Amino acid sequence: MNICCIGAGYVGGPTMAMIAYKCPDIQVTVVDLNQKRIDAWNSDHLPVYEPGLDEVVKAARGRNLHFSTEVNAAIKAADMIFIAVNTPTKTFGTGAGRAANVEFVEKCARQIAEASSGHKIVVEKSTLPVRTAEAVKRILENSNNGSTFDVLSNPEFLAEGTAVQDLLNPDRVLIGGESKAAIGKLVDVYAHWVPRERILTTNLWSSELSKLTANAFLAQRVSSINAISALCEATGADVDEVAKAIGTDSRIGPKFLKSSVGFGGSCFQKDILNLVYLCEHFGLREVAEYWEQVIRMNDYQKRRFCERMVRTMFNTVSNKQIAIWGFAFKKDTNDTRESAAIYVCRDLLNERAKLKIYDPQVSEEQVRRDLIEVFSYATGTITDQERALIADHVSVVSSAEEAARGSHAIAVMTEWDAFKKLNYESILQSMYRPAFVFDGRNLLNHKHLTSLGFEVHAIGKTT
Ligand SMILES: NC(=O)c1ccc[n+]([C@@H]2O[C@H](COP(=O)([O-])OP(=O)(O)OC[C@H]3O[C@@H](n4cnc5c(N)ncnc54)[C@H](O)[C@@H]3O)[C@@H](O)[C@H]2O)c1
Repeated sequence: MNICCIGAGYVGGPTMAMIAYKCPDIQVTVVDLNQKRIDAWNSDHLPVYEPGLDEVVKAARGRNLHFSTEVNAAIKAADMIFIAVNTPTKTFGTGAGRAANVEFVEKCARQIAEASSGHKIVVEKSTLPVRTAEAVKRILENSNNGSTFDVLSNPEFLAEGTAVQDLLNPDRVLIGGESKAAIGKLVDVYAHWVPRERILTTNLWSSELSKLTANAFLAQRVSSINAISALCEATGADVDEVAKAIGTDSRIGPKFLKSSVGFGGSCFQKDILNLVYLCEHFGLREVAEYWEQVIRMNDYQKRRFCERMVRTMFNTVSNKQIAIWGFAFKKDTNDTRESAAIYVCRDLLNERAKLKIYDPQVSEEQVRRDLIEVFSYATGTITDQERALIADHVSVVSSAEEAARGSHAIAVMTEWDAFKKLNYESILQSMYRPAFVFDGRNLLNHKHLTSLGFEVHAIGKTT
């Protein structure tokens, strides 16, 4: 068997590396248009940071795992082609700001139709609006070179930061499709390491919708506990205690009840917006409004974090230096897409704060690119004044201690484990007093910090 995957991103790279690692009898080629990304996959510095990924890639690369920009050649040689390209929220035209942009998926389908010969199984790995498979099938059926196709939906449920563990030991693998034979071939691939009872098969539309629904439910849990965190701050209840108390109810369960400055990542917001758009398309206004509230609550959580900082720091942060600890959207990834840190930094910059940013995995280039992009959201352009603000008020440094030195406050944006193990006595000595800590992840030992002399403000807790 020969597999090709189009899209060497956060999903295509790790998922195909795991298939190659677990299936030495299958040749796997991951292709992408982005030469820099492919070069990085072929180097010692992978473009995706994930614990354990280096080892998996090194074990299979060159043996039965290949990274290339030769898209047509890989399609030709493959029996099974995964589409794992990005499906961002549309920024233009009908559905802008809500619908998923499926143009890259359509381009892949057209390229597959053109470059194929014989029979191919095409697998949607990207997260897609329900019934996209229908469009993919129609494009493939119109290939005029005699090739034939089966289309399957196989959404990916890995979480960044734990991708390798999630791929090694998935809760379930979901495969939707019409052809029993094609489904069987994909089941056989996963069955190399996933117990058969965890491989679920459904019809195409259930599979496509299940991915959107899973992300909507997960994000909803975060927004639910974050909504309660605001009430905790107003009433003196402690959100971690409330989360523990409700999480022990077996009907609710303990996972995904950690209150924070807000969820980020490339998927939750995009997939809920996509769900909202679908509901609106089918005239289900109340259902659309229900899910949209999850996003609104998340925006509120990010916004009120900055507002609380400003209020606490005597109603002005103008020209005050603030340490931003963490820029990735969660720990153990270098991905910053939709990271809450981006929005908090934007709001603090609008208040004219000076930011010293540190993240163990995110480059200065990425930080500056994200900030320029977030200032451009509203109008599509960034003003000279905003550009100057980013240039003059942002520095990116190489340690958490360096960020804190000379700062009035520390804002914890990402829950990196390393932040728990620092020497806070010497950090305090290097800061202005009062030395504020705004813990956006409820990560640090607040009692200890308070006893040292920090003034700690945490999510869902009164000070
Ligand atoms: N990131 C996650 O945690 C996650 C989890 C589950 C599902 N998903 C879904 O998986 C899909 C991919 O997400 P990602 O995070 O890997 O995106 P990504 O942006 O990291 O990677 C997508 C890659 O596809 C490439 N590409 C786009 N069009 C191409 C074309 N025509 N030919 C060749 N390459 C092309 C891009 O250059 C890019 O490298 C999305 O639909 C996303 O919703 C993501």
